Amino acid sequence: MSLFITFEGCDGCGKSTQSLALKRRLQKIARTVMLLHEPGGTRLGNRISYLLKWTKNVSISPTAELLLFNASRANLVDEVIVPALHAGRIVICDRFADSTIAYQGYGRSLDITFVKSTCAVATRGLRPDLTILLDVPVQEGLKRKAGTGNNDRFEQTDLAFHQRVRQGYLAMAQEEPGRWFVVDATQPRERTREIIWQKVSSLLGI
Ligand code: TMP
Repeated sequence: MSLFITFEGCDGCGKSTQSLALKRRLQKIARTVMLLHEPGGTRLGNRISYLLKWTKNVSISPTAELLLFNASRANLVDEVIVPALHAGRIVICDRFADSTIAYQGYGRSLDITFVKSTCAVATRGLRPDLTILLDVPVQEGLKRKAGTGNNDRFEQTDLAFHQRVRQGYLAMAQEEPGRWFVVDATQPRERTREIIWQKVSSLLGI
């Protein structure tokens, strides 16, 4: 049975750690799992990701940003995600279209309906079966990231931007509770991992 699971949340919420832990646990029960990360995941996507995250002294307008994330996504959906789901795999994606709604829609204040319809073009209507929102207060997430000493264009954006992103995520989760699973990610990592596993295993009927 194929399954499409996405992880979402503000910067520093622990998505990379938790998505990797979920992948390993699923592999232990002999499931074929693919773990992807957005932006990126294809050669074109990796180039776009670099441009979006690390270019300096290049102005990128909010609309250009929206389209670049979706160009990376369209390539990933067509070349990787859809073929993997057709092959019956479990696909875990660390960020997907909801990141664009949260960051470019709520964060950059682009029109939400316009952002959603642009995302729908890139995904060709593909939607996750389950979206796990790792919720942490913005300052805590940014503090975790600051510790790495390696901050991209988004992590350098002001606090109000990140607050809007978090509020956007919580609003989306409230609007569609059947797909979203909100986890308080300020808990110890192991506890968060167990809560996620309980949800995913029940979905798989294990
Ligand atoms: P990462 O830190 O998870 O690699 O994500 C890179 C940054 O890009 C992160 O701050 C969130 C941001 N982002 C968007 O603004 N829109 C998107 O559609 C995606 C996928 C990420």
